[in-house]
Amino acid sequence: MQPFDPVNFRGQFQFFQHNPGWVYLDNAATMHKPDVVVNAITSFYQRNNSNVHRGAHTLSQNATRAFEQARDDIATFINAGARQQIIFCSGATAALNQIAFGLMHTVLQPGDRVLITALEHHANIVPWQLHCSRFGVTLDVVPLDTEHKVDQQAFAELLALKPKVVSFSHISNVLGHIQPVAHMISQAKATGALTVIDGAQGIVHDKIDVQALDADFYVWSGHKLYGPTGIGVLYGKTAALELLTPIFAGGEMISEVNFSHSLFNILPFRLEAGTPDIAGAIGLAAACNWLQKINSEQVKNYKAMLLKQFFAGLKKIGGLDILSSPVHNAGIVALNVQGEHPADVAELLNQQAVAVRGGQHCAMPFFSQLGLAGAVRFSFAPYNTEADVATSLQALTQAAEILTA
Ligand SMILES: Cc1ncc(COP(=O)(O)O)c(C=O)c1O
Repeated sequence: MQPFDPVNFRGQFQFFQHNPGWVYLDNAATMHKPDVVVNAITSFYQRNNSNVHRGAHTLSQNATRAFEQARDDIATFINAGARQQIIFCSGATAALNQIAFGLMHTVLQPGDRVLITALEHHANIVPWQLHCSRFGVTLDVVPLDTEHKVDQQAFAELLALKPKVVSFSHISNVLGHIQPVAHMISQAKATGALTVIDGAQGIVHDKIDVQALDADFYVWSGHKLYGPTGIGVLYGKTAALELLTPIFAGGEMISEVNFSHSLFNILPFRLEAGTPDIAGAIGLAAACNWLQKINSEQVKNYKAMLLKQFFAGLKKIGGLDILSSPVHNAGIVALNVQGEHPADVAELLNQQAVAVRGGQHCAMPFFSQLGLAGAVRFSFAPYNTEADVATSLQALTQAAEILTA
């Protein structure tokens, strides 16, 4: 295992050589890709490109081997119990849609309940809403406490209503708050519910061991973890995956078709209709293999150090409403300049070459409850530097001064 060296780490991303003037703090939206990922994708297209699974020819067999090796590598990365538990999809949104749709036909009956929290990304709200309303299933929402954390007392009370499915994010994409996910999973399981974890931000922050976590499903997007866009992972325990009715049909997911009925293929193919994102899977596996070699505890400590510096700097800027807590925070800070629209603050930061996101961060219900138009979100990655922290604080000070002058 290599020790984490921030300078060497950043040096592996050509993006920063091509954009030397920028401070990139929009990592919760998407991360940059190290050369090892870009090279794996390029190399696949230049040397190995063919469709997978169907071809009789050697080139297709080579592509199939590389694609299936990617599945093995990703299974190892999250310590899945079996390779067929890794379902490739386009990302966390696609995975959550597949789960919400797939469980309606098998597990959830009219009158049943699904439980989510008030801190979810739209991708973990709207698919449930869409399918619950069509199937007569009630969607309950756990409220937040005064620190914008999931109210654990209310969570326990809503679990007493015996939801069949409990679905929540590992880490809030708005605030960076890390949920007590292991505790929440075990509480939900104790009531007999199926557990779905939106790991889009969680997988970025911590080493994930899905067997230790013991959720039925854990979903994530490749592009937020140094991988390409268009690829993601729906991990599920085998028995849980078997409960899912496929949302898409066609291609390799079928073993027999006739005009009266069709038989579906075995896992993982049953849930992977059509030509998959072969290069994407290979690129994501390259990211995972690369991360396996880096000391993840040191990475976490480095990011925590940047976050501490950032919070310390924020204290010196007057007139801010800081929504995020520094405690149990994965490196995301949402804030507002009092009385100012977040879009205006984000634009003034943009003019100073600091890339952040201003708005509602796909969490409209959260901001509606607070009566806020949104927030400016600073999200840190291990390739950020102490200079990035200082520059962004300076830019925020200037933005606040301009707006409040
Ligand atoms: C917590 C969370 N869930 C789900 C998503 C959706 O991810 P994607 O757009 O890659 O499908 C995001 C993306 O921001 C997220 O942060």
